[in-house]
Amino acid sequence: MTIRPDLSKLDAETLETVKKAAPSLWCNPAYLPTRDEEAATGLKTAISDWHMLAPLLEKLFPELSATHGTISSNLTEVAPLQQALGYTPKFHGRLFVKEDHALPVAGSVKARGGIFEVMMTAINQARSEGFLGLSEDVTKLASREAHDFFAERTIAVGSTGNLGLSVGIAARTLGYNAVVHMSSDAKAWKIDRLRRFGVKVRKHRGDYNLAVAAARDAAAKDPMVYFVDDEASELLFRGYSAAAMELQTQLKQIGVEIGPKQPLFLYLPCGIGGAPGGISYGARGVFGPDVHCFFAEPTQSPSALLQMLHGTELPTSVYDLGLSNKTEADGMAVATMSKLVANHMKQRLAGVYTVDDDTLLNWLTLAYQQADLKLEPSAVIGFGGPHFLIDTAQGQAFCQRHLARAALENVIHVAWTTGGSFVPELQFQAFVDQGSAGAPDHIL
Ligand SMILES: Cc1ncc(COP(=O)(O)O)c(C=O)c1O
Repeated sequence: MTIRPDLSKLDAETLETVKKAAPSLWCNPAYLPTRDEEAATGLKTAISDWHMLAPLLEKLFPELSATHGTISSNLTEVAPLQQALGYTPKFHGRLFVKEDHALPVAGSVKARGGIFEVMMTAINQARSEGFLGLSEDVTKLASREAHDFFAERTIAVGSTGNLGLSVGIAARTLGYNAVVHMSSDAKAWKIDRLRRFGVKVRKHRGDYNLAVAAARDAAAKDPMVYFVDDEASELLFRGYSAAAMELQTQLKQIGVEIGPKQPLFLYLPCGIGGAPGGISYGARGVFGPDVHCFFAEPTQSPSALLQMLHGTELPTSVYDLGLSNKTEADGMAVATMSKLVANHMKQRLAGVYTVDDDTLLNWLTLAYQQADLKLEPSAVIGFGGPHFLIDTAQGQAFCQRHLARAALENVIHVAWTTGGSFVPELQFQAFVDQGSAGAPDHIL
C-alpha cells in the first residue's frame, strides 16, 4: 500500500496503532456536520420506494402482515447493559439499541438492503419486459404467473453470509433462481439455511472480495443473471437509508427531540460499508448537523478506517498492512472498502473505531445477560462507541469540537445491532461461553 507522505501526525500515529491490530479511534479531519439537502432528497426517494413495495411484501411474507409490509425493528433503551459496560449517565448519556438483529425475513440489517434491491429489480424487469404495466398494481408480482416469469431468471450475489440470506430468500420467494457466492469466512449455519430455501451456494476458498469478484464474473457471462453488487450498488445503499426515518419516528415517540442540545451518535458495524453508509446517509438527511455517525470494525479488518484515512483515490487493503482479515465477526471480514460508499462518506463520516474479537465476544455475553439480546459477533461492536468518544483523548477532542452546545449527559448513543436472531442455539451458546471467559482489560 502506498502510504500518503502528507498524513498528519495524528493520522500517522493512528495508522501505527491500527497496524499493531490494537483498538483504535480515527476521527475524520474532513468531517462536516451540516444540513444535507442531497441526502434528504435521496431519503425521500427511498421512503417512497419502500412505500410502493409494502403491499407486495405483505403478500409475499406472512411475517410482515402485522406491519402491513413494513420491515422495521425496535429501538430500546438498555440501562442495565449501559451500566454493565461501565457507562455512567453523567458522562456517557443514554444508550439505546436499534434492534436490526431481529429484523423479519432475514434476521439482519441486510434485510433493508437485500430485499429492497431484489424487489426493485423484479419490478424493473417485469416492467421493461411488458409483464407489469407502469401503473399496474405491483402485488401482481406475488402471483403464480409472476413466479413462472421470474423462474427463467437468476439473481446472484457475493457475500460473507447475511446479504446472501437476505437476497437469496427474497429472490426465491419471488420465484427466481438464486446463486450465492460465499467467502471462506461464511458460517456453516448460514449456508445450510440458504440451501433449505433452494438457493445454490458456491463456497470459495478466498475472502469476501474474491467471492464478490467470482459472482460478478459468473453473472457477466449470462444475460439472464442479475448481479447484486455489494461493492457498488446504489440500490442497496438506498434501501438501507430509509432506516433513519424509522429511527426519528421512534425517538419522537419516546419524547426525544434531536437537536444541538441533544445530539445523536450512531455506532454502525462496517464490512464493505453499504449498510452503515446507507444508514448514515439517511441519518444526515433527517438529522443534519445533529447526528454523528461512526463506523466500527474488527482490529484485523479495518478496511473503512484505512480507506477513509488515506482518501478515496488510493485503493487500500488491510492485507497490505500485514493484518489477517480473520475475525469471528464474519459480516465485517472485508479487506477493502466500497469506493461508492467511501465517496458518499467523505465529509459525512465522523470517524471509525476498531475492536478486537475477545472484546466483541465479551459484549455479546453481556448483551445477552443484561438485555436478553441474541446477537452475532459482528452485531455488538456498536457498544464500544461511548467508550471511544468519551474516554479517549481523540474522542474528547471530537466532543470539544462538535458538541459545544450539548452537555454529555444529554447525548443519545445508539448502538446498531445488525444480526443474530437466526443464529442456531448451539452456536449462540458457544459464543456466550467464549465471551464469559472475562473482559479483556485494555478496552473497558
Ligand atoms: C451482522 C452484520 N453486521 C454488519 C455488516 C456490515 O455491512 P456492510 O458489509 O454493508 O458494511 C454485515 C455484513 O454482512 C453483517 O452481516
